[in-house]
Amino acid sequence: PSAPMIAPSILSADFANLAAETRAVEGSDWLHVDVMDAHFVPNLTLGLPVVESLLKATDIPMDCHLMIEDPRRWAPPYAEAGAYNVTFHAEATDDPRAVARDIRAAGAKAGLAIKPGTDLTPYLEILRDVDTLLVMSVEPGFGGQRFIPEVLSKVRTVRNLVDAGELSVLVEIDGGINADTIEEAAEAGVDCFVAGSAVYSADDPGRAVAALRAQAAA
Ligand code: DX5
Ligand code: ZN
Repeated sequence: PSAPMIAPSILSADFANLAAETRAVEGSDWLHVDVMDAHFVPNLTLGLPVVESLLKATDIPMDCHLMIEDPRRWAPPYAEAGAYNVTFHAEATDDPRAVARDIRAAGAKAGLAIKPGTDLTPYLEILRDVDTLLVMSVEPGFGGQRFIPEVLSKVRTVRNLVDAGELSVLVEIDGGINADTIEEAAEAGVDCFVAGSAVYSADDPGRAVAALRAQAAA
């Protein structure tokens, strides 16, 4: 992969001060925004109105991770609002190609996310029709969980296909990424690293982003 990308997740930020929390990580590659609906995952976070306000508050390209049911219905508005990348879960739809097509038609990059226990094989063909593959390295729903290293075999599979010129997709990893785990993920071939608690529990979130990026590049 080229220069590693870091996408701080505001799930671990102070939700009463999101504009300031976003400014604290200026210079990040993407701003990762976790949308949860309390149905697809057992947690509820934020939705389109907050995303629309955040888009006005920052120039960091926004990476919306939709942990929601019925993405065919709910995903395109995030693209229309101006998100750079809109990722939905493979487990939440029967027609991932249609969801990806609608997201792209609405003006964003389209991402497919898979949970730790989800096999990649049935989705390999669909990767031709998306821009991003988000490999979850924790069960989606909460920040601060432990990294599941077994998911890296999926990263390696896709990395090999991309490097062989058989696929063109950005490989993103989400969950438990910190100073202890990022090198292992980088070696497996991740392009973009989401980090929530590792960034926002630091005294200086901006420095934490820079440190993670340097570690991933090493
Ligand atoms: C969890 C979210 C993640 C979360 C990661 O479902 O998708 O983006 O913020 O948090 P950490 O980096 O603390 O594991
Ligand atoms: Zn996420």
